[in-house]
Amino acid sequence: MSERSLAVVILAAGQGTRMKSSLPKVLHRIGGRSLIAHVLDAAAGLAPTRVIAVVRHDRDRVSEAILDHAPDTTIVDQDEIPGTGRAVELAISALPDDFDGSVVVLSGDAPLIDSATLDRLVRGHIEDRRSMTLLSAIYDNPTGLGRILRDADGGVTGIVEEKDASEAQRRITEINGGIYVFARAALQSALAGIDTNNAQGEKYLTDAAASILSDGGAVEAVATDDPWLIAGVNDRAQLADAGRELNARIVREHQRGGVTIQDPATTWIDADVSIEPDTEILPGTHLQGATSIASGAVIGPDTTLVDCEVGAGARIRRSEATLAVFGDGVEVGPFAFIRPGTELGAAGKIGAFVETKNAKIGDGSKVPHLSYVGDATIGTGTNIGAGTIFANYDGVQKHHTRVGDAVRVGSKNVLIAPVAIADGTYTAAGTVVRKDVPAGSLALNVAPQRNIEGWVAEHRPGTSTAEAAERAGE
Ligand code: UD1
Ligand code: CA
Repeated sequence: MSERSLAVVILAAGQGTRMKSSLPKVLHRIGGRSLIAHVLDAAAGLAPTRVIAVVRHDRDRVSEAILDHAPDTTIVDQDEIPGTGRAVELAISALPDDFDGSVVVLSGDAPLIDSATLDRLVRGHIEDRRSMTLLSAIYDNPTGLGRILRDADGGVTGIVEEKDASEAQRRITEINGGIYVFARAALQSALAGIDTNNAQGEKYLTDAAASILSDGGAVEAVATDDPWLIAGVNDRAQLADAGRELNARIVREHQRGGVTIQDPATTWIDADVSIEPDTEILPGTHLQGATSIASGAVIGPDTTLVDCEVGAGARIRRSEATLAVFGDGVEVGPFAFIRPGTELGAAGKIGAFVETKNAKIGDGSKVPHLSYVGDATIGTGTNIGAGTIFANYDGVQKHHTRVGDAVRVGSKNVLIAPVAIADGTYTAAGTVVRKDVPAGSLALNVAPQRNIEGWVAEHRPGTSTAEAAERAGE
């Protein structure tokens, strides 16, 4: 039986010199994913039988990243013959000989292409029994890109690269987007006959158009009115442009899904973030990684959440959190710094100027002000007084602190780990808790207060303090 239908080839062998980066171009990120991961995702949306990526520059790093994101991808190494045509020729030689379906060709550096557009392109290609279909666009400034050549009737006659184009051809504003669908057999025979006699000494994939036409195959360029779909990233300015556009698209998608987003320009949402309807995202908020937000939550302003899970109706403002889980109805911030391993139970609170790390805080428990909670388990309905420090580090090792249910830790305590405070206890203000506290007790170790009367008049005569004391009748 022949392997039918669809293969996708992703070109990623180029160097990306203009990025001026030690990181391969296709591994630069927008929307929380590498450029190549976006392209792999668009390819996966077509449910192809095979995805083949062509690599050369920094091949180990690039192929590792590809396989990390899409383990079923076939990696093909480009040889010393340069050009997009050579890259595709090597890629399709990795297909089974009897594969007679369509081959979609994408660029690893054009991250905004989407599955729906590709699907339409493939459908039209098959319905019209073409040998080559490509996505084109009309650009006001087509400089640097391949131009689509058409005859008087509008039929495509070929593609010419800028460097090989005549003066007249350079005035053509319809450009080649570098996204194609081919019939495998027609592509293979066209590439076999293409040479490198051109301004760049490369084997051009674009030369396949004229070759297929001369063999009697049908070629069509479908112009898109959305130039971002084909926008390639060649330098850091284009990286930022593509990132901003991707973000605008993601924000719009969430708005259409029922999320209130006040200021799209200052709201940054990664591609993998999920947000339920009837949530509100306030200005200056960054939602990153695999963050998920349940219905009714209000996030922001000026909040960054990385790989966080946020429960329904949570309120998180002016805070930063990574790898944290927030229960329903929690209140967080302003100015909380929430580090990995924090879990805040339903209706719990982490308040102003509180830092937490590896801390499980039970339902309804509160750490309202100016505290550090590290390596701790706190039960339900407990309150941690203002300015309390969980001293988890003895200079060599980290230790754990356990605080039970319905505990009232006084203000400005230091809990020296490892230590356990049982259910239903109080600790007095200023306590340094070094020993376990049994259930139902009050722990205190602050020295009793002494008031030395007349001390100010004796030791600080003539000061404003002494005058105030005198006015008070002392
Ligand atoms: C290519 C097209 C041009 C089109 C433009 C759209 C050719 C000859 N020209 O030009 O008509 O307007 O894309 O962006 O195809 N690559 C390889 N191996 C190579 C060379 C390139 O894998 O030997 C990869 C690159 O990494 C990149 C993609 O192919 O992902 C496109 O290569 P690039 O050099 O950017 O092509 P352009 O000159 O921009
Ligand atoms: Ca390019």
